[in-house]
Amino acid sequence: MKKDFLSIADFSTDELFGLIELSKEVKKHPDNYRQKLQGKSIATIFEKQSLRTHVTFDVGIYQLGAHAIYLTQGDISLGKRESIYDTGKNLERWVDGVVVRTYAHKTCTDLAAAMKIPVINALTDFEHPCQALGDFLTVHEKKWSFSGKKFVFVGDGNNVCHSLMLFAAKVGMNFVANTPKGYEPDKNVIKSSIVFAKKMGSTVEVINDPKEAVKDADVIYTDVWTSMGQEAEKESRLKIFKNYQVNKKLMSLAKSDAIFMHCLPAHRGEEVTDDVIDSKNSVVFDEAENRLHTQKAVMLTLMSGA
Ligand code: CP
Ligand code: NVA
Repeated sequence: MKKDFLSIADFSTDELFGLIELSKEVKKHPDNYRQKLQGKSIATIFEKQSLRTHVTFDVGIYQLGAHAIYLTQGDISLGKRESIYDTGKNLERWVDGVVVRTYAHKTCTDLAAAMKIPVINALTDFEHPCQALGDFLTVHEKKWSFSGKKFVFVGDGNNVCHSLMLFAAKVGMNFVANTPKGYEPDKNVIKSSIVFAKKMGSTVEVINDPKEAVKDADVIYTDVWTSMGQEAEKESRLKIFKNYQVNKKLMSLAKSDAIFMHCLPAHRGEEVTDDVIDSKNSVVFDEAENRLHTQKAVMLTLMSGA
């Protein structure tokens, strides 16, 4: 296992299934893990806003017996007040692990490279691996297997889509990214996902047709059209993405038992309508809960020394 949890691409199929299994154990028997990180301190650095990631890491760290130190840009000005390297070299003398949410993915990888201690990517502009792990636990709980099932992502092919695509490919679930032209996932992520999927006997496709993609889907997933840091593009994005809204009509093209997923926060009325996100097929709050259990599994794996 790698020292850090930065990208889904860094982990083997077995390691990802192992993390899902450990997450299930942690979820079922939280008391067995109460003291596993006792006496440890973990810095949680956030350049961007967060509800789910911040709270689930804080609660998870507490539940494992460790201590969280929350640091915002207002506190440390990561990469500005001093070099990322120097920040890392200081932190590794005091804490046992770092959780970090940044704009540039390189900020996160540079910090990890500077330190001997584990670093967990809590979202960058390029990937959101903790989200994907929580989501695939949710898919496993609801569908019981990945192979032969179809996961359709509708919307912007950026951070969340990248991690989901890589995860689906690594665990052998068929994946379709359905985005407007010009908003497809990164070419290298597509390329490596196709290679991983081939090994697993599954497929990865990228298309620009909101209706075609969702046919026979087992999972329909969307994310905001305007991610953090893209606020200036909001008006133009509303126009570009308008045919990619997940509404009742679109859901009716999927399998009748298809689940609706969203990383949240949702911009209701934009990428998803209330009648979908509040429907019985929606599992968005299960996903949010599973962030807690899966991140505890990641911290146990990287930081407990086991
Ligand atoms: N899904 C997610 O990461 O939510 P936050 O941005 O609130 O952490
Ligand atoms: N794509 C979104 C995900 C938020 C969890 C963003 O980066 O803002």
